[in-house]
Amino acid sequence: MIYGIEQLAYIVDGALFIFSLHWMNDPKTARRGVIFGVAAMLLAIITTWIQPQIVNHAWIIIAIIAGIAVGIPLSLVPLTAVPQRTALSHAFGGAAAGLVGTAKYFLWLGEGSEQLTQFRMIAIVAEVILGFLTFTGSLLAAGKLQEIRWIPQRPVTYPFQNVINIGLLVIAAGLGTLLVIYPGASWSSTVFLAIIALSLIFGVLFIIPIGGADMPTVISILNSYAGLSAVAMGFVLDNKLLITAGALDGSSGLILSIIMCRAMNRSFTNVLFGAFGSVQAAKATGEQKIYKQETIEGAAQILEQARLVVIIPGYGMAVAQAQHRIRELYDQLKKRGITVKFAVHPVAGRMPGHMNVLLAEANIPYEDLVEMDDINSDMPQCDVALVVGANDVVNPSARYDKSTPIYGMPIIDADRARLVLAIKRSKNPGFAGIDNELYFKDNTWMLFGDAKAVVGDLAKQLAHG
Ligand code: TAP
Repeated sequence: MIYGIEQLAYIVDGALFIFSLHWMNDPKTARRGVIFGVAAMLLAIITTWIQPQIVNHAWIIIAIIAGIAVGIPLSLVPLTAVPQRTALSHAFGGAAAGLVGTAKYFLWLGEGSEQLTQFRMIAIVAEVILGFLTFTGSLLAAGKLQEIRWIPQRPVTYPFQNVINIGLLVIAAGLGTLLVIYPGASWSSTVFLAIIALSLIFGVLFIIPIGGADMPTVISILNSYAGLSAVAMGFVLDNKLLITAGALDGSSGLILSIIMCRAMNRSFTNVLFGAFGSVQAAKATGEQKIYKQETIEGAAQILEQARLVVIIPGYGMAVAQAQHRIRELYDQLKKRGITVKFAVHPVAGRMPGHMNVLLAEANIPYEDLVEMDDINSDMPQCDVALVVGANDVVNPSARYDKSTPIYGMPIIDADRARLVLAIKRSKNPGFAGIDNELYFKDNTWMLFGDAKAVVGDLAKQLAHG
């Protein structure tokens, strides 16, 4: 009876997870996607909890309380910290898979090596390697994104790095193969512990050569590893829902990484092994160029005379939390009959959909959010491109300068607008660490300051001016 209920619940759950992901594709249905995803998770927990094999409910209750105690503060982090928060979730997921695999291995080893069939051993080895490398890799990735002082943000490279890294993984896989062939040998538990150690070290070595701007992509790759380790865990525990949910997690992480790589015109191998960001600091300290500045009053007058204003938000809008002030400015411009569009670059900010989420929070109508490919043809007709804390995603050198790390990345053609107003706090470069020639062009005017304050002042000026 319970078995039948369990199987039915798992089918419903699998469907809910698939629909949940599908609904998250569109801002209008995203909220529903989240609610159904949470419901699916709750159903999965309850279904697993009512299994007759559960012998100790106290431990489950303790685990749930611990999970809630960690989960609630994690859910309250600011939106700018979501990439590192996501990395922490992957770290926990990887650790859980690795620990379950380890527990199952030693349990079955104690019950007699005939329990450790080849199929189970392959699943356990995959689970443990993927789980533990995801654990340390994700922890380090979270630390880098959080800019923890003692963790180097820039790529750390050394000779033969890729050979050493891949060599470690090959040794771990080789030891795993030995265990699959001789699961109950007298040395098997020592080899098992060596696989764990190598996987933990590999996770660290895998992440240290990767630079800050590539971390979101890497986190997405770690997401797919965490999913794959859950699939392996599903095979170990003979749990079909874990296999389905893990496969969904693994494939969505992979698809997301591919989308990000395409949006940056980078290859997977370049992200993983390219040590992106290690040569950028030198370029940033090049010759001093001249910026032209505009006042709030002057900028407000320029905006008032425009027919089409394209607002291009970037990471700086997220840092400043300027979205609500942008809404006020949007309202002021719309009141004057000016057409206002938002140009959203797929990798603006630090995570996919970063700008969409913030602008939706400020109730900017979805139909005014335009994807890069669609807005670029309108840019020559745009009277004012208002760049709010965006840098790399509007840097024209991406089109032709092969020496820049962002060469080949499609950009929003702000430079093709009739006039550009650019808001940022200083003359510092963007995330890729290179100067942006857009800021020195004849038709660009800088508004230096915090995005929230500057946009707020512009809105006030238009309201009272
Ligand atoms: P960035 O190139 O990081 O530039 C952000 C700009 O915002 C900086 O120049 C900074 O200049 C300014 N800023 C920061 N805080 C500010 C504040 N409070 N007020 C006003 N301005 C502020 O951002 P972007 O153009 O959005 O590009 C995103 C970068 O992340 C790209 O390199 C992209 O490849 C990378 N990346 C993104 C993703 C995803 S999924 N989004 C994934 C992988 C990589 P000041 O310091 O002078 O203020």
